[in-house]
Amino acid sequence: MTLTDTYTLSNGEKIPVVGFGTWQTPAGDVAEESVATALKAGYRHIDTAAIYGNEESVGQAIAKSGIPRDEIFVTTKLWNDAITYDDAKKAIDTSLEKLGLDYLDLYLIHWPNPKANRPNNEKRNADVWRAMEDAVEDGKIKSIGVSNFHERHLRPLLATAKIKPSVNQIYLNPSDQQKDIVKFNKENGILTEAYSPLGTGKILELPTLMEIAEKYNKSTAQIALRWSLDKGFLPLPKSVTESRIIQNAELFDFDLTMDEINILDGLDEGKLSLNPDNTDF
Ligand SMILES: NC(=O)c1ccc[n+]([C@@H]2O[C@H](COP(=O)([O-])OP(=O)(O)OC[C@H]3O[C@@H](n4cnc5c(N)ncnc54)[C@H](OP(=O)(O)O)[C@@H]3O)[C@@H](O)[C@H]2O)c1
Repeated sequence: MTLTDTYTLSNGEKIPVVGFGTWQTPAGDVAEESVATALKAGYRHIDTAAIYGNEESVGQAIAKSGIPRDEIFVTTKLWNDAITYDDAKKAIDTSLEKLGLDYLDLYLIHWPNPKANRPNNEKRNADVWRAMEDAVEDGKIKSIGVSNFHERHLRPLLATAKIKPSVNQIYLNPSDQQKDIVKFNKENGILTEAYSPLGTGKILELPTLMEIAEKYNKSTAQIALRWSLDKGFLPLPKSVTESRIIQNAELFDFDLTMDEINILDGLDEGKLSLNPDNTDF
């Protein structure tokens, strides 16, 4: 496996197995330079979102890289302020404009249950999904999916969607493995993307990860990312630090044993992910 290997989504589109995260990466030089560094290091999949405020910088880095558009996979996401069909239609066009792209590879509903619209999430998700389906028809988006969805949010969407969600991007690392969602995704042909694969930096000193890292002369970040790939997930590591951006891509010159994977499977505490029906946004 390499950084440019792909998973195949349910609609036949290919998606590179590691994506580069950009949450909390400030717009401007930091975002532009970190994405440029990632592309130079060989990443071909960038994950951003309207709410991150850095789509313009991400787009600049892509444009300046000189890499052909069809060799880079770009994901962005619909924020919680989009409730209606028209809101979503506008949000898609705004993201395309900010990114300076004429199509998105993947567009996700960022959260299933915006606070301001509770408890009407089912209708909201159906309405914005129709706008996303229409954008696929118009050639503005290749694949559509969701993020932070549990089975209770996915079921109604699956019942009404013309185009089934191809991805569910969820909080997922050895400390919080969301096994119910992962199982439901799999049963429904939905690829699981692992966001915060390093627990936003909070899991890097787990003694078990440190022991395994020492054996392979790798970092704990690399062990967590390798585990994610071995589980068939698509990890989205974020960094603004050149050495870490490079390190997080060096995952293919060692293999974890089945025993080690089982030990990491046993670290699940399930405490860190947010309940999407109870968030403050
Ligand atoms: N869909 C959603 O709701 C959602 C939510 C959260 C995240 N995401 C996506 O998932 C991506 C990743 O998640 P995340 O941003 O929470 O964090 P993460 O990738 O789990 O961890 C990033 C943190 O770890 C540090 N780090 C990265 N590589 C390291 C290494 N090799 N050694 C030591 N420290 C390292 C980074 O520091 P520096 O940057 O300072 O180097 C940063 O503080 C996001 O950027 C975003 O694209 C999606």
